[in-house]
Amino acid sequence: MKVIVVKDYEQMSDKAFEIMKQVVVANPNGVLGLATGTTPIGLYKRMIEDCKQGTSYKNIKTVNLDEYKGLDVTSDQSYVYFMRDNLFNHIDIDLNNTNIENGKAENAEEECARYNALLEVLQQDIQLLGLGSNGHIAFNEPGTPFGSVTHVVDLQESTIKDNARLFNDISEVPRQAFTMGLKNIMNAKKILILASGANKAKAVYGMIHGEVTESLPASVLQLHPDCTLIIDEAAASLLK
Ligand code: F6R
Repeated sequence: MKVIVVKDYEQMSDKAFEIMKQVVVANPNGVLGLATGTTPIGLYKRMIEDCKQGTSYKNIKTVNLDEYKGLDVTSDQSYVYFMRDNLFNHIDIDLNNTNIENGKAENAEEECARYNALLEVLQQDIQLLGLGSNGHIAFNEPGTPFGSVTHVVDLQESTIKDNARLFNDISEVPRQAFTMGLKNIMNAKKILILASGANKAKAVYGMIHGEVTESLPASVLQLHPDCTLIIDEAAASLLK
C-alpha cells in the first residue's frame, strides 16, 4: 500500500483529485467506484470545478459502494440523493450511467444479485473509499468475510452513531444498508482510500501496521496490488 501523508483535509482532497483526474483522462469511458460521506466532498468539489474547465464525464460510468435500506432518491438522506447533490448534478455525466443499490428494492436478495452482476460487467478502473472509525470500508463492518459480495448488512451501533450527525435524530438512521462486499471492492483495478481526522487514527494504524484480519475490514487492502492511502496529519498521528 502506498501511503501519502498530507497536512489537512484540503491537501488530502487536492492529492486525491490529482489521482482521480489521471484515471478519468486516461479512461474517458471508464468506470469510477464512488463513495459517500464527509471524506470525498472536497474531492467532488474539485471534480466539479475541473469539469467546468473542460474535463468531460459524458461517457464515464459510476458504481457506488452502498445505500441505506429503505431510502431512495426521494429522501435527502439517501446516498443516491447525496451523489446527485454533491457531484452528478454538477458535472456532464449521464445519470443513466450512474449506479447504486436500490434501497427500496422489494426483494433484497434479487437486488444484491442484480448489483453483483452489474459489477462483473463494470469493473472499477478506480474505487474510492472512506474509512470508518471502526475500520469498515463501504458498510462492511468488522467480521465481514473477505470473500463477501453485495449484501444487506445490519449497521453497528458505532456506525449508526457516526452517521447520526447527518440526520435530525439518531432514531432516524436506518439500521440496515446494502453494501458492496469486500471481494467487489478488491476487484477494482486501483483503490484510493482517504482518511482525515483524529477519530480515524486508530483504524489507519491497524489498516497499515496490523495483521490482515476480518476484524478490521480495511486491512484487506494490504493485499491489493495498487492501493493508495491519503491521510492528513491527524489521521496519521499514531503512525511512527
Ligand atoms: C460511504 C461509505 C462509508 C464511509 C465511512 C467514512 O459510502 O461506504 O464506509 O466512507 O463511513 O465516512 P465519513 O467520510 O463520513 O467519515
